[in-house]
Amino acid sequence: MKLTSRARFSTICLHAGQEPDPSTGAIITPIYQTSTYVQEALGVHKGFEYARTQNPTRMALEGNVAAIEGGRAGFAFASGMAAIGAMATLLKAGDHVVVSDNTYGGTFRLFDKVLTRYQLSFTYVDTSDLDAVERAFTRTTQMLFVETPTNPVMRITDLRAAADLAHRHHVRLVVDNTFASPYVQRPIEFGADLVTHSTTKYLNGHSDSVGGVVIAQRDDDIEWLRFVQNAEGAILSPFDSWLVLRGTKTLPLRMQRHNENGLALAEFLAAHPKVRHVYYPGLPTHPQHDLAKRQMRGFGGMLAFELGSLEAARRLLNAVTLHALAESLGGVETLISHPATMTHASVPPERRREIGITDGLVRISAGVEDIDDLKEDLSQALAAV
Ligand SMILES: Cc1ncc(COP(=O)(O)O)c(C=O)c1O
Repeated sequence: MKLTSRARFSTICLHAGQEPDPSTGAIITPIYQTSTYVQEALGVHKGFEYARTQNPTRMALEGNVAAIEGGRAGFAFASGMAAIGAMATLLKAGDHVVVSDNTYGGTFRLFDKVLTRYQLSFTYVDTSDLDAVERAFTRTTQMLFVETPTNPVMRITDLRAAADLAHRHHVRLVVDNTFASPYVQRPIEFGADLVTHSTTKYLNGHSDSVGGVVIAQRDDDIEWLRFVQNAEGAILSPFDSWLVLRGTKTLPLRMQRHNENGLALAEFLAAHPKVRHVYYPGLPTHPQHDLAKRQMRGFGGMLAFELGSLEAARRLLNAVTLHALAESLGGVETLISHPATMTHASVPPERRREIGITDGLVRISAGVEDIDDLKEDLSQALAAV
Protein backbone atom coordinates (compact mmCIF):
# COMPACT_ATOMS: atom_id res chain seq x y z
CA MET A 1 0.00 0.00 0.00
CA LYS A 2 2.45 2.59 -1.24
CA LEU A 3 1.38 6.22 -0.84
CA THR A 4 2.49 8.43 -3.71
CA SER A 5 4.13 11.76 -2.96
CA ARG A 6 0.89 13.36 -4.22
CA ALA A 7 -1.33 11.61 -1.60
CA ARG A 8 -3.85 14.05 -0.13
CA PHE A 9 -4.61 14.64 3.55
CA SER A 10 -7.47 12.12 4.00
CA THR A 11 -5.50 9.40 2.24
CA ILE A 12 -2.46 10.11 4.43
CA CYS A 13 -4.61 9.94 7.58
CA LEU A 14 -5.98 6.53 6.56
CA HIS A 15 -2.84 4.82 5.31
CA ALA A 16 0.43 6.50 6.35
CA GLY A 17 2.66 4.42 8.60
CA GLN A 18 0.66 1.23 8.04
CA GLU A 19 1.27 -1.83 5.88
CA PRO A 20 -0.83 -5.00 5.96
CA ASP A 21 0.62 -7.23 8.69
CA PRO A 22 3.43 -9.24 7.03
CA SER A 23 2.61 -12.52 8.82
CA THR A 24 -1.16 -12.66 8.04
CA GLY A 25 -2.07 -9.81 5.71
CA ALA A 26 -4.36 -8.29 8.38
CA ILE A 27 -5.31 -4.90 6.95
CA ILE A 28 -5.36 -3.28 10.39
CA THR A 29 -2.08 -3.04 12.29
CA PRO A 30 -2.39 -5.58 15.15
CA ILE A 31 -1.97 -4.71 18.81
CA TYR A 32 1.49 -6.16 19.47
CA GLN A 33 0.90 -6.84 23.15
CA THR A 34 4.33 -8.17 23.97
CA SER A 35 7.15 -7.03 26.20
CA THR A 36 10.00 -8.71 24.33
CA TYR A 37 10.94 -10.47 21.07
CA VAL A 38 12.69 -13.80 20.57
CA GLN A 39 16.08 -13.53 18.88
CA GLU A 40 17.04 -16.16 16.28
CA ALA A 41 20.63 -16.34 17.44
CA LEU A 42 22.93 -14.17 19.48
CA GLY A 43 22.75 -10.70 17.91
CA VAL A 44 20.33 -11.87 15.16
CA HIS A 45 16.83 -10.37 15.36
CA LYS A 46 14.20 -8.60 13.26
CA GLY A 47 14.98 -5.11 14.56
CA PHE A 48 12.85 -5.60 17.68
CA GLU A 49 14.54 -6.33 21.01
CA TYR A 50 12.45 -4.89 23.85
CA ALA A 51 9.04 -3.20 23.73
CA ARG A 52 9.92 0.04 25.54
CA THR A 53 12.39 0.66 22.73
CA GLN A 54 10.46 -0.73 19.72
CA ASN A 55 6.83 -1.74 19.32
CA PRO A 56 5.26 -2.19 15.86
CA THR A 57 1.85 -0.77 16.84
CA ARG A 58 3.41 2.34 18.37
CA MET A 59 5.82 2.72 15.46
CA ALA A 60 2.91 2.56 12.97
CA LEU A 61 1.17 5.37 14.89
CA GLU A 62 4.39 7.40 15.01
CA GLY A 63 4.81 7.13 11.23
CA ASN A 64 1.16 8.02 10.77
CA VAL A 65 1.16 11.19 12.90
CA ALA A 66 4.49 12.36 11.44
CA ALA A 67 2.97 12.15 7.94
CA ILE A 68 -0.28 13.82 9.06
CA GLU A 69 1.63 16.80 10.47
CA GLY A 70 4.05 16.87 7.51
CA GLY A 71 7.01 16.21 9.82
CA ARG A 72 10.01 13.88 9.57
CA ALA A 73 9.54 11.74 12.71
CA GLY A 74 6.91 11.16 15.38
CA PHE A 75 7.21 9.92 18.97
CA ALA A 76 4.27 8.65 21.03
CA PHE A 77 4.08 9.10 24.80
CA ALA A 78 1.83 8.00 27.65
CA SER A 79 0.04 11.38 27.81
CA GLY A 80 0.14 14.85 26.32
CA MET A 81 2.03 16.00 29.42
CA ALA A 82 4.61 13.20 29.02
CA ALA A 83 5.15 14.39 25.43
CA ILE A 84 5.72 17.99 26.59
CA GLY A 85 7.98 16.73 29.39
CA ALA A 86 10.08 14.80 26.86
CA MET A 87 10.44 17.90 24.67
CA ALA A 88 11.58 19.88 27.70
CA THR A 89 14.59 17.56 27.97
CA LEU A 90 15.92 19.27 24.82
CA LEU A 91 16.72 22.15 27.24
CA LYS A 92 19.68 22.45 29.59
CA ALA A 93 20.06 24.20 32.96
CA GLY A 94 20.22 27.96 32.37
CA ASP A 95 17.98 27.91 29.27
CA HIS A 96 14.99 30.21 28.91
CA VAL A 97 11.62 29.58 27.24
CA VAL A 98 9.00 32.08 26.05
CA VAL A 99 5.49 30.64 26.45
CA SER A 100 1.96 31.65 25.36
CA ASP A 101 0.44 33.27 28.43
CA ASN A 102 -2.76 31.28 28.47
CA THR A 103 -1.26 27.92 27.74
CA TYR A 104 -3.01 24.78 29.04
CA GLY A 105 -3.00 24.81 32.87
CA GLY A 106 -1.12 21.49 33.10
CA THR A 107 1.66 22.83 30.88
CA PHE A 108 1.95 25.92 33.08
CA ARG A 109 2.08 23.66 36.16
CA LEU A 110 4.85 21.51 34.65
CA PHE A 111 6.91 24.56 33.70
CA ASP A 112 6.24 26.57 36.85
CA LYS A 113 6.30 23.91 39.56
CA VAL A 114 8.62 21.24 38.18
CA LEU A 115 11.02 22.55 35.55
CA THR A 116 11.96 25.74 37.39
CA ARG A 117 13.60 23.38 39.94
CA TYR A 118 16.11 22.47 37.22
CA GLN A 119 17.27 26.03 36.52
CA LEU A 120 15.05 26.52 33.51
CA SER A 121 13.21 29.82 33.32
CA PHE A 122 9.95 30.76 31.59
CA THR A 123 8.43 34.06 30.51
CA TYR A 124 4.71 34.13 29.73
CA VAL A 125 3.61 36.56 27.04
CA ASP A 126 0.67 37.06 24.73
CA THR A 127 2.24 35.37 21.70
CA SER A 128 -0.36 36.95 19.40
CA ASP A 129 1.77 40.08 19.98
CA LEU A 130 5.08 39.23 18.33
CA ASP A 131 6.72 42.48 19.44
CA ALA A 132 6.11 41.36 23.01
CA VAL A 133 7.58 37.96 22.15
CA GLU A 134 10.71 39.57 20.71
CA ARG A 135 11.09 41.77 23.80
CA ALA A 136 10.86 38.64 25.99
CA PHE A 137 13.73 36.87 24.18
CA THR A 138 17.04 36.85 26.07
CA ARG A 139 20.50 35.55 25.20
CA THR A 140 19.56 32.21 26.76
CA THR A 141 16.17 31.72 25.06
CA GLN A 142 16.04 28.33 23.34
CA MET A 143 12.33 27.78 22.76
CA LEU A 144 9.20 29.67 21.85
CA PHE A 145 6.27 27.50 23.04
CA VAL A 146 2.98 28.47 21.41
CA GLU A 147 -0.61 27.30 21.65
CA THR A 148 -2.94 28.63 18.98
CA PRO A 149 -5.86 29.05 19.34
CA THR A 150 -5.40 29.44 23.08
CA ASN A 151 -7.53 27.67 25.61
CA PRO A 152 -10.20 28.91 26.25
CA VAL A 153 -10.28 32.50 24.91
CA MET A 154 -9.15 31.50 21.40
CA ARG A 155 -6.35 34.00 20.80
CA ILE A 156 -4.40 33.27 17.62
CA THR A 157 -0.65 33.44 17.04
CA ASP A 158 0.60 34.11 13.51
CA LEU A 159 2.57 30.89 13.01
CA ARG A 160 4.62 31.95 10.00
CA ALA A 161 5.66 35.23 11.61
CA ALA A 162 6.40 33.42 14.91
CA ALA A 163 8.60 30.87 13.10
CA ASP A 164 10.50 33.62 11.25
CA LEU A 165 11.03 35.58 14.46
CA ALA A 166 12.15 32.51 16.42
CA HIS A 167 14.59 31.45 13.72
CA ARG A 168 16.11 34.95 13.44
CA HIS A 169 16.98 34.50 17.14
CA HIS A 170 18.13 30.84 16.72
CA VAL A 171 15.19 29.72 18.86
CA ARG A 172 13.04 26.62 18.20
CA LEU A 173 9.33 27.17 17.58
CA VAL A 174 7.25 24.53 19.40
CA VAL A 175 3.51 24.43 18.73
CA ASP A 176 0.98 22.57 20.86
CA ASN A 177 -1.54 21.82 18.09
CA THR A 178 -4.01 19.92 20.30
CA PHE A 179 -6.78 22.51 20.11
CA ALA A 180 -6.84 22.89 16.35
CA SER A 181 -5.84 19.38 15.15
CA PRO A 182 -3.72 18.89 12.02
CA TYR A 183 -6.84 18.96 9.82
CA VAL A 184 -7.36 22.58 10.81
CA GLN A 185 -3.72 23.71 10.87
CA ARG A 186 -0.30 22.19 10.21
CA PRO A 187 2.35 24.27 12.01
CA ILE A 188 5.35 22.63 10.30
CA GLU A 189 4.15 24.09 6.98
CA PHE A 190 4.55 27.53 8.59
CA GLY A 191 8.05 26.75 9.88
CA ALA A 192 7.53 25.14 13.32
CA ASP A 193 10.39 22.88 14.46
CA LEU A 194 8.36 20.73 16.86
CA VAL A 195 4.64 20.01 17.10
CA THR A 196 2.97 18.31 20.03
CA HIS A 197 -0.51 16.92 20.67
CA SER A 198 -2.44 15.48 23.50
CA THR A 199 -3.76 12.57 21.39
CA THR A 200 -6.36 12.25 24.15
CA LYS A 201 -8.24 14.92 22.17
CA TYR A 202 -8.95 15.17 18.42
CA LEU A 203 -6.37 12.65 17.15
CA ASN A 204 -7.95 9.79 19.07
CA GLY A 205 -11.28 11.56 19.02
CA HIS A 206 -13.39 9.10 21.01
CA SER A 207 -12.63 10.02 24.66
CA ASP A 208 -11.30 6.54 25.40
CA SER A 209 -7.51 6.93 25.52
CA VAL A 210 -4.89 9.21 27.10
CA GLY A 211 -1.74 9.83 25.09
CA GLY A 212 0.61 12.36 23.51
CA VAL A 213 2.87 12.77 20.50
CA VAL A 214 5.77 14.94 19.42
CA ILE A 215 6.54 15.47 15.73
CA ALA A 216 10.04 16.72 14.98
CA GLN A 217 11.87 18.14 11.99
CA ARG A 218 15.50 18.76 13.00
CA ASP A 219 18.00 15.87 12.93
CA ASP A 220 19.38 16.72 16.38
CA ASP A 221 15.88 16.87 17.90
CA ILE A 222 14.87 13.56 16.27
CA GLU A 223 17.98 11.83 17.56
CA TRP A 224 17.51 13.19 21.09
CA LEU A 225 13.77 12.43 21.29
CA ARG A 226 14.35 8.85 20.12
CA PHE A 227 16.97 8.49 22.84
CA VAL A 228 14.94 10.11 25.60
CA GLN A 229 11.71 8.27 24.74
CA ASN A 230 13.57 5.06 25.53
CA ALA A 231 15.70 6.49 28.35
CA GLU A 232 12.75 7.97 30.30
CA GLY A 233 10.33 5.31 29.07
CA ALA A 234 7.04 7.24 29.13
CA ILE A 235 5.86 5.39 26.02
CA LEU A 236 2.31 4.99 24.71
CA SER A 237 0.96 1.44 25.24
CA PRO A 238 0.24 -0.83 22.24
CA PHE A 239 -3.51 -0.72 22.88
CA ASP A 240 -3.60 3.08 23.13
CA SER A 241 -1.43 3.32 20.02
CA TRP A 242 -3.95 1.15 18.19
CA LEU A 243 -6.88 3.28 19.41
CA VAL A 244 -5.25 6.51 18.23
CA LEU A 245 -4.33 4.89 14.90
CA ARG A 246 -7.98 3.97 14.47
CA GLY A 247 -8.93 7.55 15.42
CA THR A 248 -6.71 9.25 12.85
CA LYS A 249 -8.39 7.29 10.03
CA THR A 250 -11.55 9.37 10.52
CA LEU A 251 -9.89 12.63 11.58
CA PRO A 252 -10.88 14.54 8.40
CA LEU A 253 -14.50 13.35 8.56
CA ARG A 254 -14.81 14.20 12.24
CA MET A 255 -13.09 17.56 11.90
CA GLN A 256 -15.40 18.66 9.11
CA ARG A 257 -18.35 18.14 11.46
CA HIS A 258 -16.53 19.66 14.48
CA ASN A 259 -15.86 22.75 12.33
CA GLU A 260 -19.49 22.99 11.19
CA ASN A 261 -20.94 22.49 14.67
CA GLY A 262 -18.39 24.85 16.29
CA LEU A 263 -19.32 27.66 13.89
CA ALA A 264 -23.06 27.01 14.17
CA LEU A 265 -22.97 27.06 18.00
CA ALA A 266 -20.81 30.22 18.02
CA GLU A 267 -23.30 31.98 15.74
CA PHE A 268 -26.26 30.75 17.81
CA LEU A 269 -24.71 31.94 21.08
CA ALA A 270 -23.57 35.29 19.62
CA ALA A 271 -27.20 36.03 18.73
CA HIS A 272 -28.55 35.05 22.18
CA PRO A 273 -29.50 37.96 24.48
CA LYS A 274 -28.13 36.26 27.64
CA VAL A 275 -24.67 35.75 26.16
CA ARG A 276 -22.34 38.74 26.57
CA HIS A 277 -19.49 37.62 24.36
CA VAL A 278 -18.47 34.62 22.26
CA TYR A 279 -14.83 33.66 21.68
CA TYR A 280 -14.54 31.83 18.35
CA PRO A 281 -12.08 32.63 15.53
CA GLY A 282 -14.71 31.86 12.89
CA LEU A 283 -16.84 34.85 13.87
CA PRO A 284 -16.11 38.08 11.94
CA THR A 285 -16.15 39.85 15.33
CA HIS A 286 -13.06 37.88 16.45
CA PRO A 287 -10.14 40.37 16.35
CA GLN A 288 -7.97 37.89 14.43
CA HIS A 289 -10.59 36.47 12.10
CA ASP A 290 -8.52 37.31 8.99
CA LEU A 291 -5.40 35.63 10.37
CA ALA A 292 -7.48 32.60 11.36
CA LYS A 293 -8.82 32.39 7.79
CA ARG A 294 -5.23 32.45 6.46
CA GLN A 295 -3.72 29.76 8.68
CA MET A 296 -6.67 27.52 9.62
CA ARG A 297 -8.93 25.25 7.55
CA GLY A 298 -12.24 25.91 9.26
CA PHE A 299 -12.07 27.20 12.82
CA GLY A 300 -12.30 24.07 14.93
CA GLY A 301 -14.79 22.79 17.46
CA MET A 302 -13.71 24.82 20.49
CA LEU A 303 -15.49 27.95 21.66
CA ALA A 304 -16.08 29.88 24.87
CA PHE A 305 -18.70 32.38 25.94
CA GLU A 306 -19.24 34.86 28.73
CA LEU A 307 -22.36 34.77 30.90
CA GLY A 308 -21.29 37.52 33.31
CA SER A 309 -21.17 35.69 36.66
CA LEU A 310 -20.38 32.42 38.39
CA GLU A 311 -24.06 32.05 39.27
CA ALA A 312 -25.17 32.36 35.64
CA ALA A 313 -22.52 29.83 34.56
CA ARG A 314 -23.59 27.44 37.33
CA ARG A 315 -27.27 27.63 36.30
CA LEU A 316 -26.43 26.89 32.68
CA LEU A 317 -24.04 24.05 33.50
CA ASN A 318 -26.57 22.43 35.82
CA ALA A 319 -29.37 22.75 33.25
CA VAL A 320 -27.76 21.21 30.15
CA THR A 321 -28.71 17.60 29.46
CA LEU A 322 -27.10 16.63 26.13
CA HIS A 323 -23.92 18.67 26.74
CA ALA A 324 -21.82 16.59 29.15
CA LEU A 325 -20.24 18.56 32.00
CA ALA A 326 -16.65 17.33 31.81
CA GLU A 327 -13.03 18.36 31.35
CA SER A 328 -11.22 17.45 28.14
CA LEU A 329 -12.14 18.11 24.53
CA GLY A 330 -11.93 16.81 21.00
CA GLY A 331 -14.19 13.75 21.35
CA VAL A 332 -17.20 12.97 19.19
CA GLU A 333 -19.56 13.89 22.04
CA THR A 334 -20.09 17.52 23.03
CA LEU A 335 -18.52 18.55 26.34
CA ILE A 336 -19.14 21.71 28.34
CA SER A 337 -16.94 23.01 31.14
CA HIS A 338 -16.15 25.89 33.49
CA PRO A 339 -12.48 26.82 32.95
CA ALA A 340 -12.06 28.87 36.17
CA THR A 341 -12.91 25.92 38.44
CA MET A 342 -12.04 23.00 36.16
CA THR A 343 -9.27 23.08 33.50
CA HIS A 344 -7.64 26.28 34.80
CA ALA A 345 -8.15 25.81 38.55
CA SER A 346 -4.37 25.40 39.01
CA VAL A 347 -3.75 28.84 37.43
CA PRO A 348 -3.58 31.55 40.14
CA PRO A 349 -6.74 33.77 40.16
CA GLU A 350 -4.89 36.99 39.24
CA ARG A 351 -3.31 35.31 36.21
CA ARG A 352 -6.72 33.91 35.23
CA ARG A 353 -8.14 37.44 35.28
CA GLU A 354 -5.24 38.79 33.17
CA ILE A 355 -5.94 36.26 30.43
CA GLY A 356 -9.72 36.69 30.44
CA ILE A 357 -10.75 33.54 32.29
CA THR A 358 -13.58 35.03 34.33
CA ASP A 359 -15.97 33.18 36.64
CA GLY A 360 -18.73 33.61 34.06
CA LEU A 361 -16.81 31.98 31.22
CA VAL A 362 -18.09 28.65 29.84
CA ARG A 363 -16.23 26.48 27.30
CA ILE A 364 -17.71 24.08 24.77
CA SER A 365 -16.01 21.33 22.81
CA ALA A 366 -18.53 20.87 20.00
CA GLY A 367 -18.98 17.21 19.14
CA VAL A 368 -20.51 15.68 16.04
CA GLU A 369 -24.14 15.34 17.16
CA ASP A 370 -27.00 16.80 15.12
CA ILE A 371 -26.62 20.57 15.48
CA ASP A 372 -30.35 21.09 16.13
CA ASP A 373 -30.20 18.85 19.22
CA LEU A 374 -27.22 20.83 20.54
CA LYS A 375 -28.93 24.18 19.94
CA GLU A 376 -32.17 22.97 21.60
CA ASP A 377 -30.23 21.85 24.68
CA LEU A 378 -28.40 25.18 24.98
CA SER A 379 -31.63 27.06 24.41
CA GLN A 380 -33.43 25.34 27.27
CA ALA A 381 -30.38 25.69 29.55
CA LEU A 382 -30.02 29.42 28.77
CA ALA A 383 -33.67 29.85 29.75
CA ALA A 384 -32.61 28.77 33.28
CA VAL A 385 -29.92 31.50 33.49
C1 LIG B 1 -3.65 22.03 24.76
C2 LIG B 1 -3.31 20.86 25.63
N1 LIG B 1 -2.05 20.42 25.66
C3 LIG B 1 -1.69 19.37 26.45
C4 LIG B 1 -2.61 18.74 27.25
C5 LIG B 1 -2.16 17.58 28.13
O1 LIG B 1 -2.59 16.38 27.61
P1 LIG B 1 -2.90 15.05 28.49
O2 LIG B 1 -4.10 15.35 29.32
O3 LIG B 1 -3.12 14.00 27.45
O4 LIG B 1 -1.69 14.81 29.34
C6 LIG B 1 -3.94 19.15 27.23
C7 LIG B 1 -4.94 18.48 28.08
O5 LIG B 1 -6.05 18.93 28.26
C8 LIG B 1 -4.30 20.25 26.41
O6 LIG B 1 -5.55 20.71 26.38
